[in-house]
Amino acid sequence: MTDPTTPNTSFTGRTVVITGGAGDIGLATARHLGRLGATIALIDLYAGKLEAARAQLEGDGVAAHAWRCDVTDEAAVDATLEAIAERLGRVQHLFNNAGILGPFHPLLDYPTDDFDAIQAVNVRGAFLVLRAFARHMAERGGGSIVNMASMAATGGPPNMIAYATSKAAVLGMTQTASKDLAPHGIRVNAVSPAYMGPGFMWTRQVELQAAAGSQYFATDPEVVAEQMIGSVPMRRTGGMEEIPGAVAFLLSDGASYITGINVPIAGGIL
Ligand SMILES: NC(=O)c1ccc[n+]([C@@H]2O[C@H](COP(=O)([O-])OP(=O)(O)OC[C@H]3O[C@@H](n4cnc5c(N)ncnc54)[C@H](O)[C@@H]3O)[C@@H](O)[C@H]2O)c1
Repeated sequence: MTDPTTPNTSFTGRTVVITGGAGDIGLATARHLGRLGATIALIDLYAGKLEAARAQLEGDGVAAHAWRCDVTDEAAVDATLEAIAERLGRVQHLFNNAGILGPFHPLLDYPTDDFDAIQAVNVRGAFLVLRAFARHMAERGGGSIVNMASMAATGGPPNMIAYATSKAAVLGMTQTASKDLAPHGIRVNAVSPAYMGPGFMWTRQVELQAAAGSQYFATDPEVVAEQMIGSVPMRRTGGMEEIPGAVAFLLSDGASYITGINVPIAGGIL
């Protein structure tokens, strides 16, 4: 599918599926890829939020469609893929981005149900979506995929055993998928944002770390925010708009010889 004469970042004539598409990062990425010519298929859990995101994209001149789907439900994922293919035809690109943060507790107190619920969305959901769309792409000449990991996968943040575990799984999934899918002309990479804000996850993460209490962070959310930012070499949070460029590059033909890697989007945290 790679044509070296095509501008690296052009998505004209391509369809990109984005899970968690109604969330902060999903929507920002949809807008960016839409402006690069892509037709966008948003998938998310909440119908109202989804329709608001789709309408916002339409207002920005982006060709956007939306499907409500719980990515943990195998039958729903398969049915959604079928519906997308029926309406939009071939899907060339996937941003496998849906995810949840879950509660924060030290390992000794971490509830099993919460651990399972986070793996269900961040691991099982990511796997179901990855496999479904990879099958579709393999039958249609290939494609490219970006999985959403996190710096939590490698950074070992306290009180986040379930989330860190789930995102480490996404990195493993990415590397194995890149091997299994290379013969089918499908590239698979990951991105790992760190402290992105303002936004729902940033605010929540600061509040939850403060409330969980540990020897690593203060109990005042404002101080926690300063502590987190102080650990970033660039000494600031990243903006949501600083994620889509990396995702677009990895999905694009400009990255045609890049697969199985993880790109930190983390202001210098490695
Ligand atoms: N914001 C950050 O600082 C940050 C940092 C690193 C990684 N991430 C990851 O980026 C991704 C997007 O995060 P965000 O900041 O945009 O958060 P967000 O909460 O704004 O977006 C996540 C979206 O996923 C959807 N979702 C959740 N469960 C779902 C399910 N079962 N089926 C379908 N959709 C579901 C939500 O409805 C939401 O719209 C997540 O995977 C998150 O873990 C975020």
